[in-house]
Amino acid sequence: MAGASPGEQEEVLSSHEVMEFRENVYRFYRVHRRDLPWRNTKDAYSILVSEVMLQQTQVERVLERYPRFIARFPDFSTLAGAPFPEVLGEWQGLGYNRRAIFLHRIARLVRDEYSGCLPDDEGTLMSFPGIGEATAASLLAFVFNRPSIVVETNIRRVFIHFFFEGQSGVKDPEIRPFVAATCDRENPREWYYALMDLGSALKKQIPNPNRRSAHYRKQAPFEGSDRMVRGKILGILVRDGAVRESDLPWMLGIDRQRAEAILSTLEKEGFFKREGELAVLL
Ligand code: ADE
Repeated sequence: MAGASPGEQEEVLSSHEVMEFRENVYRFYRVHRRDLPWRNTKDAYSILVSEVMLQQTQVERVLERYPRFIARFPDFSTLAGAPFPEVLGEWQGLGYNRRAIFLHRIARLVRDEYSGCLPDDEGTLMSFPGIGEATAASLLAFVFNRPSIVVETNIRRVFIHFFFEGQSGVKDPEIRPFVAATCDRENPREWYYALMDLGSALKKQIPNPNRRSAHYRKQAPFEGSDRMVRGKILGILVRDGAVRESDLPWMLGIDRQRAEAILSTLEKEGFFKREGELAVLL
């Protein structure tokens, strides 16, 4: 259950095993901790922006874009008050642009319904657009220093490597009791930073243990994909504010049906409205 906290689970490790694992993780972390800008703040907004960016974008790329985003939209109220085209413009280069819509909507929700404060409840956070179990749990740990159960890609890698040796098809519900049992309840914020850093280092050192996760999906090639076409259409919209639907096939070198299909998905997702023949950024 998303709301279950560590300690409520059946014991999967002895207290000795837990201590040993924690010591090893912290020993690694003392030497290899990454100094990342979103870790030098307890500001809920700044941490939320980083977590949404980090959902699907590599740390190195986020490091390039995060400071500018925060400088331009420093708090919930600035982001909530900004016109969407500006937010989408600032998002360019991060990919998976729906996250710009989600973040903008979250800022408006927080402003309008939560008096400008990010709620500290996992269920409420998960009701927000674009926030799933992993992001909600990360926010609880990093903003509120709560011992939530965080299972995301780096952490999954650590647990599969150390506790599921030789097993494949490992499901997240099998991992969760280990995450719960080992969580440093005195200091969850630091603990999860440490696990993420260890998971990130493991990726560079050994064949990716996440291939043994039941949830592992290799990312489809970008070149020529719908995702690439979506990105190009949004790039045009950011640059020009609007585009004529009938111009897209020749601008992008794709057939009319494909242009229509991708455009109609973008419309349903709330990126733009139609004004006659034009698609106009919202
Ligand atoms: N530090 C805090 N959150 C992080 C994340 N999601 N990925 C990597 N490092 C982080």
